[in-house]
Amino acid sequence: MKNTSVDFLPLLGTDHVEFYVGNAKQAAHYYMSAFGFQAAAYAGPETGVKDRMSFVVKQQKLTFVFTSSLRPGTPIADHVMKHGDGVKVLALKVDDARSAWEETTRRGGRSCREPEVLKDESGELIISGIHTYGEVLHIFIERKNYHGAFMPGFVPWTNPYFKPAETGLLYVDHCVGNVGWNQMDPWVKFYEEVMGFRNILSFDDNDISTEYSALMSKVMSNGNGYVKFPINEPAEGKKKSQVEEYLDFYQGEGVQHVAMATNDIVHTVTELRNRGVEFLRVPDSYYDELLERVGRIDEDLAPLRELGILVDRDDEGYLLQLFSKPVQDRPTLFFEIIQRKGAKSFGKGNFKALFEAIEREQEMRGNL
Ligand code: FE2
Repeated sequence: MKNTSVDFLPLLGTDHVEFYVGNAKQAAHYYMSAFGFQAAAYAGPETGVKDRMSFVVKQQKLTFVFTSSLRPGTPIADHVMKHGDGVKVLALKVDDARSAWEETTRRGGRSCREPEVLKDESGELIISGIHTYGEVLHIFIERKNYHGAFMPGFVPWTNPYFKPAETGLLYVDHCVGNVGWNQMDPWVKFYEEVMGFRNILSFDDNDISTEYSALMSKVMSNGNGYVKFPINEPAEGKKKSQVEEYLDFYQGEGVQHVAMATNDIVHTVTELRNRGVEFLRVPDSYYDELLERVGRIDEDLAPLRELGILVDRDDEGYLLQLFSKPVQDRPTLFFEIIQRKGAKSFGKGNFKALFEAIEREQEMRGNL
């Protein structure tokens, strides 16, 4: 165990998730109209940024940034050409972005951005960053002396005529990465050694296979548990692994799903579904044995069944969760909606029903 008693990388949580997309304006609008995000900030030619457009949307502690290139041949354009729309940055909020960079690069992290102070009339923000799996970056953001809309270079973006719905989404619960064959353990080691995370849960191909699209997964958590990164790799099964389908279409490793927390999943999923978000559906028979499997729960069964919400229990409590279909053309990134009622796990009891649902979708795409 590489577990040290002092947390050399104290994290205050997820600062933001940045997506590189083909059309940032329309992507931002989808997240506002379908998921209830509010317009927050903007950067582009009008603010002195010549090569790109970035739109920032917010909801409670969730901040998403959508960035697209204004011309071909830029790193952003090349990224979108290769991967389609996807997550580029998992940004982490820190108290000290210089120390975060020094501690991680000293332990072998590959720098993508040396510590830099960004200033405007709203204060100063310190930014630094390192590479992780695929082309994904971890950017460290120190914003305790910054009070602007997002960060220097951005201006407030408002639309007084557009009122997003109250969907009840609160914060990022976890972000899952898909890595290549035999790459899970090297990346587990990266999170342990470079970032001081611990492996808190593991699923092998006996938990997640048989007939089903097989995968292995290890959940990495930082010291205070605010940041959790499960890492998946494909496993040999009778059918093509869902992780393999992702790797084929994303053309490499990347973020598979972002889980967003809610305190009322029935309300959240109802609002999202009414606004066009599509969810995976398990067979109705899942609900016939649900209460036998998970025991007593506070929620009525009928709305869970109607919305297709999944339930699982562990030693500490239970959780309710539901997964969207992919949110872009390629079968790559999707979202999870999760409500935790004591449980700190990830829904292992739902894997079988869930992966059968994923397989049906893979089969319709001709990728099984
Ligand atoms: Fe998840």
